[in-house]
Amino acid sequence: MTQHVRSAIVTGAAAGIGLAIAQRLARAGIAVAIADRDRAGAAAAAAALAADGHRACAIGVDVTSPAEVEAMVAQTIAAFGRLDILVSNAGIAGVHGFLDQPLDHWNAVLAVNLTGVMLCGQAAARAMVRQSSGRIVNIASISGIRAGIGRTAYGTSKAAVIHLTRQMALELGPLGITANAVAPGPVDTAMAQAVHTAETRAAYARLIPMHRYGRPDEIAAAVLFLASEEASYVNGQTLCVDGGFAAAGIVASDVAGSPPPAG
Ligand SMILES: NC(=O)c1ccc[n+]([C@@H]2O[C@H](COP(=O)([O-])OP(=O)(O)OC[C@H]3O[C@@H](n4cnc5c(N)ncnc54)[C@H](O)[C@@H]3O)[C@@H](O)[C@H]2O)c1
Repeated sequence: MTQHVRSAIVTGAAAGIGLAIAQRLARAGIAVAIADRDRAGAAAAAAALAADGHRACAIGVDVTSPAEVEAMVAQTIAAFGRLDILVSNAGIAGVHGFLDQPLDHWNAVLAVNLTGVMLCGQAAARAMVRQSSGRIVNIASISGIRAGIGRTAYGTSKAAVIHLTRQMALELGPLGITANAVAPGPVDTAMAQAVHTAETRAAYARLIPMHRYGRPDEIAAAVLFLASEEASYVNGQTLCVDGGFAAAGIVASDVAGSPPPAG
């Protein structure tokens, strides 16, 4: 049984899913570093957690910068004494058809969503190795499992995160560190509001077996499990939290003459 207070870094935690993850971990008694390139947002989120009696600090970081990522880990250890959990959540999106995919957007998305996850994982694991324990949870996406229109850069970055997670699991597992991913379905955050058209929303509502978007707290609950001691033998997995979207194939309405769903 762990005696010390566990500590976590959550990247991209000033808003959206990352903020919900930070709040969920804090409510579980974990000291949380809110790491985000939005420094004012990170400071506000950390202050709100502290006002509720939780241990939290804010760290300004661009996850594409190796020096800033190293400083993020050092600042967290300075604040909390150790680092037990990394949640690599910072991400950016954008929608372009394959034939029109701009190279600068491709490079920007890969830099944040993939290289950022690699850099944060590397820096955190180098600290976790010293205590022979740690949990890394990378936020992927169902767009990294099923291709979607306009998701050339974003979907490819998330598919790579799923494989990078396996790579981390293989190499860090012997060192006492687990690495897993959570692949959310659509969640109504600023990101979704920027890239989901009314048609996208209607398509998701039809295609997701639960016929709705996920909530940030539903993603956070899965992250908390993978970050917990209860998940001690889960390593290299990607947990879809998507209302069944990735699991679904044809449904009754696709098949002429098929029986109606029971119930
Ligand atoms: N919202 C969805 O529908 C959805 C679905 C699947 C996966 N995801 C993934 O969940 C994660 C969070 O998404 P969200 O919807 O909360 O997005 P969001 O845009 O609401 O929040 C993202 C946060 O990341 C921060 N950020 C972006 N680039 C950064 C960088 N280079 N360095 C540090 N911080 C940076 C932003 O400042 C922001 O606070 C992302 O990885 C996203 O790809 C989101």
